[in-house]
Amino acid sequence: MNSHGTTNTSPNTSPNTSPNNSSQLMAITPRPSNVMVRGFGSYLWDAGGARYLDFIQGWAVNSLGHAAPEIVSALTDQASTLISPSPALHNLPQLELADLLIRNSEFAQVHFLNSGAEANEAAVKLARKWGQQHKPGAVDIITTHNAFHGRTLAMMSASGKPGWGQMYPPMPAGFRHVPFGDIASLQAVVGPDTLAIMVEPIQGEAGVVVPPPNYLRELRELADANNALLIFDEVQTGIGRTGKLYAHQHHGVVPDIMTLGKGIGGGVPLAAVMAVESACCFEYGNQGGTYNGNPLMTAVGKAVVETIVAPGFLQAVQQREVQLRSGLEDLAQRYQWLEVRGQGLLYAVRLPTATSAEISDRAFRNGLLVNPAQPDVLRFMPSLRVSLSEVREMLERLEASL
Ligand SMILES: Cc1ncc(COP(=O)(O)O)c(C=O)c1O
Repeated sequence: MNSHGTTNTSPNTSPNTSPNNSSQLMAITPRPSNVMVRGFGSYLWDAGGARYLDFIQGWAVNSLGHAAPEIVSALTDQASTLISPSPALHNLPQLELADLLIRNSEFAQVHFLNSGAEANEAAVKLARKWGQQHKPGAVDIITTHNAFHGRTLAMMSASGKPGWGQMYPPMPAGFRHVPFGDIASLQAVVGPDTLAIMVEPIQGEAGVVVPPPNYLRELRELADANNALLIFDEVQTGIGRTGKLYAHQHHGVVPDIMTLGKGIGGGVPLAAVMAVESACCFEYGNQGGTYNGNPLMTAVGKAVVETIVAPGFLQAVQQREVQLRSGLEDLAQRYQWLEVRGQGLLYAVRLPTATSAEISDRAFRNGLLVNPAQPDVLRFMPSLRVSLSEVREMLERLEASL
């Protein structure tokens, strides 16, 4: 018996977990009827007591796992101290988190927000403001096919998901799309009208698509040669997910603007836009939001980032990557999977057929959460604290679900 749960592991057929009022929720995504009631570390439990090994972690959000003690203390301490002074007043956690992020990066300033989409909107606003001052008339932001930058109207336009650019017309303009990882097609469109190039260092929602090794460096060169800004959306790849604090640090390339979300909040709504000094051009009134920099969220962000930059943490992520990769490669060889790809603890496998939803449904019934990112792609994004035995358990449950 685990001190935080039951030993009821599989198969997961827990009874009476379906709330009869779920039809009161707007239909935005299909969900299994099970109701999740508790989480700890790499595990989730539903109302029937069934336990799930969680390799989705709220879509790469719970960087320290469920109910991480640091996060629980930060939330409870801060909740009893100060929750919402006002975005127009300073608060300590916001100042401390800003200092921590800036000391551990090449950026000069940060602004906190509540979601990845909102951070990307702020990045676009910052770029447009910079353009008004430094490249008047240039408004094009070049993004990539199959990119995912969020679900606000502008970020749906910016994203390269098929169909999104027309879903809710009229859609905001100013975005052009080129194939991801293909520098030649970018070279063909970049020019005097280009304000910025905006990419994910690894495309997450597209199915963990890793670009060619020199791609980020070539993007930097192309942006510089065209007096355009380089924006990295590190909402999914940032805060240790790829084994370094930020994914771009693997490449020795610094963007002008970077966005963070997901993992920085460890499960609470927190996001950030950061920029190098030359791109920090917001003036009073240009940007804001009721909850921006809220101390309850930034206290959690501080606890998360302090944990991740502590000596040894990222080395452990890198070690676990080796074990995850080799386990997935072993399965890939035995089941004729086409590819194992990723970095750090953001991984995917490409299957020979469009069976990822079937496999993830079976895995769910076998007490394992994995994400069918694409019809033929399964994605793995465990807690950055996942243990070797949890990686082994995942591989066993996955194999049992094939
Ligand atoms: C790379 C990237 N950018 C932006 C977002 C949007 O973040 P949010 O859902 O917090 O708005 C996501 C979410 O999956 C993402 O993966």
